[in-house]
Amino acid sequence: MRILSGLQPTGRLHLGNFFGMMEPAIRLQDEGEAFYFIADYHSLTSLQDPAALRDNSLHLAIDFLACGLDPARATLFRQSDVPEVTELSWILSTLTPIPMLENCHSYKDKTARGIIPNSGLFTYPVLMAADILIYDSDIVPVGRDQKQHVEVTRDLAAKFNHTYGDTLKIPQPRIKEETAVVPGLDGQKMSKSYNNIIGLFEEEKDLKKKIMGILTDSTPVEAPKDPATSLIVTLYKLMAGPDAVQTMEDDFRRGGTGYGDFKKRLLERTWEYFAPMRAKRAELTANPDHVHAILKTSAEKARAIAQNTMDRVRKATGLR
Ligand code: ADP
Ligand code: TRP
Repeated sequence: MRILSGLQPTGRLHLGNFFGMMEPAIRLQDEGEAFYFIADYHSLTSLQDPAALRDNSLHLAIDFLACGLDPARATLFRQSDVPEVTELSWILSTLTPIPMLENCHSYKDKTARGIIPNSGLFTYPVLMAADILIYDSDIVPVGRDQKQHVEVTRDLAAKFNHTYGDTLKIPQPRIKEETAVVPGLDGQKMSKSYNNIIGLFEEEKDLKKKIMGILTDSTPVEAPKDPATSLIVTLYKLMAGPDAVQTMEDDFRRGGTGYGDFKKRLLERTWEYFAPMRAKRAELTANPDHVHAILKTSAEKARAIAQNTMDRVRKATGLR
């Protein structure tokens, strides 16, 4: 079974990326052949700063490794080290109806926020389909916001197979329901675009400022509070064990504890939860050559698979 997913190097990792995608993806490295990549071609649709792109890409690789990706089992590479994917993207674009792309939520959300779309942003799902299909992927672990893109991928693979004969494998999305949408500081989906993120590896003072600023209602300290509707509890559950969660929920219902105290508990838990990963990250940051070497070896492995798929695709389409 082949598992594949990607993350754009557009900024620093946040709790939504980690619990929605990275943590479940890393777990899957024990269940099959895992391929994870840094979606640098995709990031050009919104990030056009070469120094930032290089820096973010290296840091994303470091973060994957610090969070538990084992390079002996999983293949971690840069999307642009396998340029064949842009060729497949072109071929798939000739099978893609424009209304299908106009219908994609992520495109509609971005344009609704006033972003003037470039054609790369519009055809983003086609490149994503090429990413998935070129590696004959079976399973694609993603957060819920990417589900529609995997559906587009399935449609395009089916259309290709119908047009040119059975060539591409149809993948399945894998979404972890409990963490499919991690909320941000303001209660909306946590996202870089909404300026409401909690970063995995923030400085302690920045983390404190953010967590103390989480949106709460104006229930007084003495009054009982509803844990079911609290962002603090939702975020705490991601990182705390069942006993600690139970204690927090009981304290909410009992009254007598203010939101400030609950936020402190969340802050401590967040800091401790990522402490081992923070240490590993510092080690890797001090040795970037080691990270570059992993990316290079992995890219060679990924590229061989992609070239094999492209041979099939070129034959099927008549390009050979
Ligand atoms: P952002 O919205 O911050 O730009 P990305 O679009 O780069 O995040 O998302 C990268 C991955 O992380 C995707 O698989 C996405 O589904 C997942 N993800 C992002 N934000 C969340 C969230 N708040 N909850 C769950 N998963 C998320
Ligand atoms: N679109 C994904 C995101 O924004 C990143 C991505 C690009 C991806 N290609 C992919 C994810 C292929 C899964 C499979 O998060």
